[in-house]
Amino acid sequence: MPKLSALQKKLKHVFKSGMLTNAKYVSEFERSCADFLDAENVVAVASGTAALILILKCLNLKGEVILPSFTFTSDASALLWCGITPIFADIDPKTFNLDPDLIQKKITKKTSAILATHVFGNPCEIEKIETVARKNNLKVIYDAAHAFGSAYKGRSVFRFGDASIVSFTPTKVITTAEGGLAVVKDKNLSRILQLGRNNGDSFNREEEFLGLTARLNEFSAILGIESLKILKQRLKRRLKLVKMYKKELAGVPGISFQAVAPDNFSVYKDFTILADENKFGRSRDDLLKELLKRKIECKTYFYPALHKKKICQEYSDSLLPQTDYISAHIISLPLYSHMPEKYVKRVCSTIKKLSKKLT
Ligand SMILES: Cc1ncc(COP(=O)(O)O)c(C=O)c1O
Repeated sequence: MPKLSALQKKLKHVFKSGMLTNAKYVSEFERSCADFLDAENVVAVASGTAALILILKCLNLKGEVILPSFTFTSDASALLWCGITPIFADIDPKTFNLDPDLIQKKITKKTSAILATHVFGNPCEIEKIETVARKNNLKVIYDAAHAFGSAYKGRSVFRFGDASIVSFTPTKVITTAEGGLAVVKDKNLSRILQLGRNNGDSFNREEEFLGLTARLNEFSAILGIESLKILKQRLKRRLKLVKMYKKELAGVPGISFQAVAPDNFSVYKDFTILADENKFGRSRDDLLKELLKRKIECKTYFYPALHKKKICQEYSDSLLPQTDYISAHIISLPLYSHMPEKYVKRVCSTIKKLSKKLT
């Protein structure tokens, strides 16, 4: 987070003006995000989930949407809120992203879109996804909740698809406490989304369509504006720590990493290892328990995967072996930009000591 002193002038302005929402800092934050992300149209909203619900509504999507099960709950819940059936497809176990080669056979007459997540910031196989989408006349939405700053073949991931969403909750590489973005290609769609976040009302109490109360507030926008100013430098440090992790853990039997294609750039919302029990000598759950016992704060994502959750039971009709495998075998290690290098070393030496195959 930026220093409190960096926020004070703008906070004072908000207190003095009494304009807490729908005012100048939200617009300024939108412009700064568009600039940072090289994005055409950016609409700031109250959460990533709200961004997705509004995009689905404003694109008038219906029927079925194909998505990975290895993603956050709100991708499925946003679809369900909009009366759309989630159709889960499996992931590529190397990238942890939706496997584009498995999309075609999930398409039916009812399919209206593909919703693909850039998991942990790792860009999806965009060209392949968009080829299938074009062939079948489907919309493409990217869940870029983790991917603020990621790039596909040298271009911002926000240059692709019909729309993308961002989340700014505190676990992300940039936070506004709570908040999100809808990033869209079409200018007219962005105008509709601006109304949509305001209940579909163009400030004359004459709702044009069914919207949500999903505005971002000025305090969050200020936090976002000041965080953006230091983001490049924070991402650089984050990447340095990831490099250290990879170097320290290279060659540990049974430990491998999420694959990021060499011409892509991931912001590494998380640095995640895959633990193969046969080669490492311990199961993922055992390794996790031991790391937590030593106060090393690790997480398991997305576990259980969506097709195993109660809210999606009705839609879990197919086997997703790669999703099951990855969600049961990965651990996200601690990673934050001000993390001391010696902490990375401690995490890695602990993992090496816990291996039953290294002597
Ligand atoms: C992949 C992914 N998609 C969507 C969201 C939803 O964002 P929000 O919590 O801002 O609604 C999250 C939140 O963590 C996420 O991780």
